[in-house]
Amino acid sequence: MSDIVTLGEVADFEIDYLADFQKFKKVRQNLFYTTEGAETFYTYRGEELQEIRSADEYAFFVRQVFGTAARQIAFVSLGCGNAGPEKQFLHIACAEGHPLSYFGIDSSRAMLELAQRNLSAEHFPRTFVLADFTRPDFVERWRAYLLGYEVQLYALLGGTFGNFEQDFIAGVLSRLVPAGHYLYLDVVPQYESEAQNIRLRNRLLHLPQNLSRFFENLLKKLGLDQTCGELVNEEVEEAATGALRYVVQFRIHTPLDFACFGGVAHLEPGESVELLNVRAYQPAALQHFLAGWGFRYLAAYTPDVGNLPHLWQRLLFQKEG
Ligand SMILES: C[S@@+](CC[C@H](N)C(=O)[O-])C[C@H]1O[C@@H](n2cnc3c(N)ncnc32)[C@H](O)[C@@H]1O
Repeated sequence: MSDIVTLGEVADFEIDYLADFQKFKKVRQNLFYTTEGAETFYTYRGEELQEIRSADEYAFFVRQVFGTAARQIAFVSLGCGNAGPEKQFLHIACAEGHPLSYFGIDSSRAMLELAQRNLSAEHFPRTFVLADFTRPDFVERWRAYLLGYEVQLYALLGGTFGNFEQDFIAGVLSRLVPAGHYLYLDVVPQYESEAQNIRLRNRLLHLPQNLSRFFENLLKKLGLDQTCGELVNEEVEEAATGALRYVVQFRIHTPLDFACFGGVAHLEPGESVELLNVRAYQPAALQHFLAGWGFRYLAAYTPDVGNLPHLWQRLLFQKEG
């Protein structure tokens, strides 16, 4: 099994994330996925991955990026998780003779171990990298790994793009993706029909109930006693990206002291801790937003989502330069 390359230590990441939490009362989403959070996530996500029609996605890539020539392709999965969404179409691409290498980057060692296991029977070269790709020193350290690849395709799958503050992640991606290379994002789009949109909004407003184990784990990890508050979710319209943003927070009812960094942090009734952001996009508005960060929109792949209760849309961009 291929080794995990370390470009940073999880213990250091966690210290940063917890420091952030103490300072801004916001949880960086990485904290969900360390240790037991990795398995919990796939108890929800596993079903979605079964629905993906990988042959269609492979055909999309041949048309848009791979071409017929034997171009050396680096597929870089940012926040790769268990590598589930990309596994099948990369398998097909390799069987069809495309010379591709896989790079899975994640800040959770538990996730990288799932990805290693998941791809262990594949025939393409694989590199697993433990790193936080948003850290300022990441780009410099990373460049050396991709020398010589004619096509670099950076994928951010599983709705991960929608979890970050949008100017922050767009800035990170614009520094990371070299001019002429590709960015592949998957997002939850809004529907054309208002009736379907109402169902989607209802579903996203019920995230705390639908993902209850996920949030329970996180509160435990943060040392927050669940009985001192409640999970609430707000819907906000975000002007810059045209997205509906759902902000899940833990709102405190009774004064709460909790251990943090060897000290004690205090929360007063009425204060909230921001746990998770999820977005539902209007794709045209998102394309416009990313154009402002130097990404030219090329095409969308819209998978047939089978029995899923919402759509997925995968958007392909090329970095201008
Ligand atoms: C929503 S999950 C998606 C996982 C996978 N791509 C999928 O679609 O199933 C987000 C993943 O991104 C990772 N992640 C989040 N922020 C990260 C960062 N700054 N650096 C590296 N990995 C990150 C998490 O650990 C987690 O595995």
